[in-house]
Amino acid sequence: KVFLPTRRNARGFDLADSDDLALIEQARAQQRKHFLAEPIIAQPVSRTSSNWQVVTNPANPAEKVGDVLYATTEEVDQAIGAATPWAAPAAERADVLEHAAELYERDFGEILTIAAREAGKNLPDAVGELREAVDFLYYYAAQARQNDLKPRGRFACISPWNFPLAIFTGQIAGALAAGNAVLAKPAEQSPLMAAKGVALLHEAGVPLTALQLLPGDGTTVGAQLTCDSRIDGVAFTGGTNTARLIQQNLAKHCAPGTPFIAETGGLNAMVIDSTALHEQAVKDVIASAFQSAGQRCSALRCLYIQKEVYADFLTMLYGAMDELSIGNPWPLNTDIGPVIDAPAAASIQAYIDTAKADGRLLKQLDPPTTGHFIGPAVIGVNSIQDLAQEIFGPVLHVASYTADALDTVIKQINERGYGLTFGVHTRINERSTYLSEQIHAGNIYVNRNQIGAIVASQPFGGEGLSGTGPKAGGPHYLARFAAPQPATAPP
Ligand code: SER
Repeated sequence: KVFLPTRRNARGFDLADSDDLALIEQARAQQRKHFLAEPIIAQPVSRTSSNWQVVTNPANPAEKVGDVLYATTEEVDQAIGAATPWAAPAAERADVLEHAAELYERDFGEILTIAAREAGKNLPDAVGELREAVDFLYYYAAQARQNDLKPRGRFACISPWNFPLAIFTGQIAGALAAGNAVLAKPAEQSPLMAAKGVALLHEAGVPLTALQLLPGDGTTVGAQLTCDSRIDGVAFTGGTNTARLIQQNLAKHCAPGTPFIAETGGLNAMVIDSTALHEQAVKDVIASAFQSAGQRCSALRCLYIQKEVYADFLTMLYGAMDELSIGNPWPLNTDIGPVIDAPAAASIQAYIDTAKADGRLLKQLDPPTTGHFIGPAVIGVNSIQDLAQEIFGPVLHVASYTADALDTVIKQINERGYGLTFGVHTRINERSTYLSEQIHAGNIYVNRNQIGAIVASQPFGGEGLSGTGPKAGGPHYLARFAAPQPATAPP
């Protein structure tokens, strides 16, 4: 009943359609050059600070995109105090969320512009971002209509920069659909998109006391929110270590068992055997490892290739990599945009340089020199056990395995402890079934790429070090935001 409620989907854009492209170009051309984000609080305190930070374009750091004002300690405190669960009946909340979806689509030009200029998203990624955000709004609205859930109270929603609208909106829409008051803390790198989303949700009719925006650092605003005993739940997407910190904060300061919904990192693997269709597999490896400059928690990090085809497959892969266009994400033909900021670029390149010094770097493309660009890289390893941590960029590790060692590969992947996505390319059905059954991962993809889960059709989320579940865009997500239902007495 709750799995695929009748609902609308996002309109979306077809980038192969010249009318759609013309619409996008026209809308983007009309956008302003400067954006602002500041705390949005129900009963504002008078401002004692002017802690404005500049937001720059990762593809061109000299270009200022906007300014963000960080919330002060007093403002966070005030916002928590003012937060009030959304008393409207579930059907009315659903109406408002659906209206917000329409407004998101109305303002597609501004949203696609901010996605490119603040987050470095190329057009296909930006269009996917908008579509996913809209789908979350429609999906959770439809679920709210079916189940009149009771709120828990005040939810802190702490979201990442890699899906600055989609994940930001998904968490908030989930919490609001169940009637909670939301305190939204977007990533430091993507406050402008967050401000746009909140403005549209308010315009749609979400009360100010049910949704407040608190831009700022994780170490200040995030820590304050998760150390406040008035918080009744936290939805978080981000790094595994941050998730551990939040859990410690909640354990220390909040009621026992305060819900914590975390979607964290992944060290995702794919297996390609000797029967795989190599042309297809190359395309899917490129998308899985390098699309969005590898800045997806679902991205492929470690590719196991059967020994007999290892050399041939890599030759084909390198040929395809040489065709990738890396650069300014604005033009339609850009495949790979920048990584998010200077510290990210420095640490990813340092990792690649270490591999190079160790003689393990097999290939790296030359990136543009201005902007936070990283040339997609391939690094040789013995197994996934050699990956010490998730490198959040366009870095693919490759290992070869022998046909008789498939169970060892499975063991290595499972023992590494993450469990977000897994991919397999094979023409032997028993093999894909066996791997799908044996590998511990939330989302498993057969003979396709392993990124870009679709709301409702492919609920997204992992296990182990990859998160707590329940999966976003799935049937069980909203229940975690809701107060336990009283048992109904038998008739
Ligand atoms: N939902 C996203 C994906 O599937 C997460 O990174 O790619």
